[in-house]
Amino acid sequence: MKIHVVDLTGKEHELEAEPGWRVMEIIRDWGVPIKAECGGACQCATCHVYVDEDWLERLPAMREEERDRLGDAPSEEENSRLSCQLIFQPEMDGLRLTLAPETDPEA
Ligand code: FES
Repeated sequence: MKIHVVDLTGKEHELEAEPGWRVMEIIRDWGVPIKAECGGACQCATCHVYVDEDWLERLPAMREEERDRLGDAPSEEENSRLSCQLIFQPEMDGLRLTLAPETDPEA
């Protein structure tokens, strides 16, 4: 199973994905730069991603905590999610997303 991630330079990565892993962990563990400062605790929004429109409705609904944290993200868009709050499932095979500016490890 795979996810497709466009990094901050515009390069696309096809990453092997394991069910039960956070999407943020998949991105980080394959070495694509993502700040993810709080390590997945829904406290920082530096794992912010934009989900491809086709996938938006197919993902599990946001919890209030994720919505609140995204509300603090300066680059929030309608298709924003926190990748640490998305637990990869087989139905998400082929998921496409783009890293948001907050994920920049140098920022
Ligand atoms: S890693 Fe901090 S909110 Fe996702």
